[in-house]
Amino acid sequence: MALVQSGVLLLDLAGQIQSADPEAQAILESGSELIGKSLAELWPDSPLPSLWAEASTGQEASQEFVTNWTARPKNIFVSLRAFSAQERGFLVLIQDLSAVRRLESIEREFITNVSHELRTPLTSIKMAAESLQMGAIVNPKLKDKFLSNIQREADRLTRLVNELIILANIEETGTSLHISAFDLFEVLDDVSSTMSHHSKVNDIDMVNDYPSSLPIISADRDRLSQVLINLVDNAIKCNRPNGTVTLHAHVEGEEAVIEVTDTGIGIPKIDLPRIFDRFFRVDKARSRVTGGTGLGLSIVKDIIEAHGGTISVNSVVNIGTTFTIRLPLKARVHKDVD
Ligand SMILES: Nc1ncnc2c1ncn2[C@@H]1O[C@H](COP(=O)(O)OP(=O)(O)OP(=O)(O)O)[C@@H](O)[C@H]1O
Ligand SMILES: [Mg+2]
Repeated sequence: MALVQSGVLLLDLAGQIQSADPEAQAILESGSELIGKSLAELWPDSPLPSLWAEASTGQEASQEFVTNWTARPKNIFVSLRAFSAQERGFLVLIQDLSAVRRLESIEREFITNVSHELRTPLTSIKMAAESLQMGAIVNPKLKDKFLSNIQREADRLTRLVNELIILANIEETGTSLHISAFDLFEVLDDVSSTMSHHSKVNDIDMVNDYPSSLPIISADRDRLSQVLINLVDNAIKCNRPNGTVTLHAHVEGEEAVIEVTDTGIGIPKIDLPRIFDRFFRVDKARSRVTGGTGLGLSIVKDIIEAHGGTISVNSVVNIGTTFTIRLPLKARVHKDVD
């Protein structure tokens, strides 16, 4: 569907609507009741009546405004122009710019978030360097503290930049997954051993709950590993001491069902709808310590959806969380990863 919907109305000299194409009716969410009515009768509080008054003086009149009579507010651009053909009247061009305005606002929010995420670690690095310069360097304890701060914040920046590169890649070339056929069991085992050290140092027990008889699937192996590592990483860092992370998989029809379950802090119900949003973190203060950027799950979702799969989450606060992936055994590569 086009990003901008356009429609046309024709008004007679008295400003009454003579005809409305189906596109204009759909945009304005008004049906045949348009015909024979004036703009002031239909939408009295909108700028449309005054635009008509302006167009009556022979000028072209245009304006963008937000509707208050449609089911949801819409950003509408209208342009009115007098015409004189066989009959004289006014031509009204109507464009629904809501989708464009929404994209622009997502983009603005994204840039604000990225700038903030870049600035915070940079400020910490600068402050630590200044403290060292001003004398902390001769105090072994302070020196260690500031140096490890610098290291931690530099790691955070590296992670953020890496994730931004992945995002840019996915958005530009969403379809270019490197699909190959491989054994799902092997990928799960690789992920489990990659994460075993991380789970041990955090006192978390990793449980592998999948049979060795899992099928060969066709998907992007590296990206699927990245998805699972991200989910297991979250499950470890959001767990309780001596908690468990379970990696489960089975096949249902033409789909592999993969679950990552933890016994951790859980996600409050109110935050669940936003959990896959870019930069969303339940507890920003906690994630400063764990080093998370809040991009992981949004990337996970993009990757799974690019394969034609789905991801969902179930969580109970202080009991634990399960992320469930349903992945077609043969990736149905989607054109859009939005
Ligand atoms: N298993 C989980 N249990 C509880 N909360 C979780 C879990 N997984 C994710 N979350 C919450 O969702 C937020 C977003 O997760 P996401 O993976 O997108 O970002 P992150 O882990 O903070 O950073 P990144 O993955 O980019 O390093 C986390 O900060 C955390 O608050
Ligand atoms: Mg994460």
